[in-house]
Parts: sequence; C-alpha cells; structure tokens
Amino acid sequence: MASFANPFTGIVPRKMTKEELIQAIRLNIAGELEAIFVYDAHVQATDDPVAKKVIADIRDEEKAHVGELITLLHHLDPEEAKHFAEGEGEVKEMLEELGIVEKTPSDKDKPESTIGSLIDK
Ligand SMILES: [Fe+2]
Repeated sequence: MASFANPFTGIVPRKMTKEELIQAIRLNIAGELEAIFVYDAHVQATDDPVAKKVIADIRDEEKAHVGELITLLHHLDPEEAKHFAEGEGEVKEMLEELGIVEKTPSDKDKPESTIGSLIDK
C-alpha cells in the first residue's frame, strides 16, 4: 500500500467534497486495518520481548485510530451509521440466542462487584 516514490501521490489539488471525504475516511480505515495486520504479524514473528511490547503497543494504537475513524465516518454519514448499528444488532441477537452475554468495553473495566455495590443491598 505504501507509495513513497512519488511524494505527491494522494494529494488532491482542491478541497474534497463531502462524498470524497467519506471515501477518503474509508480508505484511511482500510490503511489502519492493514497496519494492524502487519504489526500483529510482526509481534507473532519475533521472540524479542522489547520488540514484541513496542510493536504490540503501536498495533493497539492503530486499533484506537480505527475507532476514531469509524466514529468520524458515522458523523459524516449518519445513514451508514444506521447500517452499522443494524449489523451490530443482528449479531447481538444471535449472541443472545446462543445465551452469550457480551460485555461492552466500558463494562470490562468495571469490577464484578464492589463493597459499594453491596451497601445498597
Ligand atoms: Fe494509525
């Protein structure tokens, strides 16, 4: 995907339309996913603990970039956001049918119970 030979590759000689910006964001997301794939392959391919830690950290930063870009995409294209939500809902229904309870990322940081949660009982 890298094309460093021509430093002007990808530079548009005008401001993008909103539709072009949406397409550019999709391309950015694809680039982040590709970076995650490559970094993860390198983490798996080395036993050097320092390299593993640094590259895994960079890989995880790319995952955060995917989240940022998807959120931006949904802001720019609310109709697409509806389709994403529809797909998410379908998978959640399937998980529910299978009796699998998924925790949200924010739920995963919370302890199962605390002393405070018992005080209200
Ligand atoms: Fe990134």
